[in-house]
Amino acid sequence: MLVIFGASGDLTARKLIPAILNLAVDGHLPKNFVVLGASRSSWSDEEFRKNVVLESKHLKSETKKEAEKIITDFADKLFYHELGADQDSDYGPLKDRIESLNKEYKTDSNYIFYLSVPPSAHESISKNLHEQDLDEETEGWRRLIVEKPFGYDLETAKELNVILQRYFKESQIFRIDHYLGKETVQNLLVTRFANSIFEPLWNRNYIDHVEITNAESGGVEKRAGYYDTSGALRDMFQSHLLQIVAFIVMEPPLSADAEEIRNEKLKALKSLRIMTDEQTLRKNTIRGQYVNSVINGEQVKGYREEEGVDPNSVTETYAALKFYVDNWRWADVPFYVRTAKRMPTKVTEVVIHFKSPHHQIFKDSGMTNKDNKLVIRIQPDEGILIKFGVKVPGQGFNVERANLDFYYSSLTETHVMEAYERLILDAMQGDATLYARADEVEAAWAFVDPILEFWKTSDAKVYGYSAGVWGPENADELIEGYGMWRNPGANLADDPGFCVIC
Ligand code: BG6
Repeated sequence: MLVIFGASGDLTARKLIPAILNLAVDGHLPKNFVVLGASRSSWSDEEFRKNVVLESKHLKSETKKEAEKIITDFADKLFYHELGADQDSDYGPLKDRIESLNKEYKTDSNYIFYLSVPPSAHESISKNLHEQDLDEETEGWRRLIVEKPFGYDLETAKELNVILQRYFKESQIFRIDHYLGKETVQNLLVTRFANSIFEPLWNRNYIDHVEITNAESGGVEKRAGYYDTSGALRDMFQSHLLQIVAFIVMEPPLSADAEEIRNEKLKALKSLRIMTDEQTLRKNTIRGQYVNSVINGEQVKGYREEEGVDPNSVTETYAALKFYVDNWRWADVPFYVRTAKRMPTKVTEVVIHFKSPHHQIFKDSGMTNKDNKLVIRIQPDEGILIKFGVKVPGQGFNVERANLDFYYSSLTETHVMEAYERLILDAMQGDATLYARADEVEAAWAFVDPILEFWKTSDAKVYGYSAGVWGPENADELIEGYGMWRNPGANLADDPGFCVIC
């Protein structure tokens, strides 16, 4: 039984229910599976079914047509329980409802509690569940899935971990980071550890620098209430991007076992060089905020004009960092990572820039940028691209760059699961490999905290950038020495420089 707290919220209708429904359509759910939505809205079972399934605008119309019968059967397995108006209401009635559904649908007392609620509600919900012994695994298993943000800084993250671990065991806690559910993020591990051609080069001897871009074309949308107190560094970097960094940096785990992988990720995160002195922070971090502009002929609001945003807000919608990893493998290799909203396109990619050949035979080849690149595209147009030099046919030895590419879309027979599908299924099966452990989350905050503190307390500028461009003008200063960021296009093989401002 999946019990969703925050069942009347946006995430439930937009992500969770469509993911679970896809699992049902693909035959991954057991017959005795039920969902109990719990929330403060006063809905009936019927209203819940209508709002999140039968009349939901978030279900794809093809799915609706193809799987009509499965959908109606699925909707019949959805139930709703109204929690009292305040967070601390008695969970006795909720427990009774859970137990009666358990009996009726024979769910073997296996319950997942999904906290799709703001962090302020985590404590009271986990405490109330504990007080009703709903964390006790005497019969069946009990798991708790928690949505980010996991704290606001290191201190609050630690507090949250203490709270959750007070009422549930760490092995019962599943901290969801939806980037870990993305096939292409998982494929970072496979690319590295299932091939013998990359790993021997995966170190400071061959890699010059690593570049990660996470760009979104959208703005803050309707989430100003959360985002304005968070900002790009907390929202994307501390969680999703550091998870990607951990996959790139980590040593080979002993096996694909959850704890082995998470131990290596933790070591990787702990090896990031924490920036502490003001000079380093000033030199290696840049923040920005989008200002109004015209994109494709349409007027686009600046961040401060967005609904719910403080008109004097200094919250960053762009963050770019340069940092080092202090370990044997990565010594002196700079990592450049940036994340932002209102960029020219939506794209996430990792670029491994290899060193130039140490002895240049084809000096006068005419090609200025000879380094080999491995581009791992997380989204969209998911795939892998290798850039390498080939001879231009004809006289002499002119070298041109060519592409060797692989696209996920070429694996047509395979259904690529959405991140939430994969993660929810893993939680049901008790597999925590793709969930963040308490110590990983804390290590990520330990790296991010001094940057946030520096931004908060110093005179570090917040640079403006027009909505629809690749960030503030001086962002390239960070990556000085390498020319500029690789500004990727909508397609994997597009060469940098792509821009759709008007
Ligand atoms: C969320 C952030 O975790 O990830 C959002 O809170 C962001 O601000 C989103 O837009 C991006 O996810 P994706 O999967 O669309 O890249």
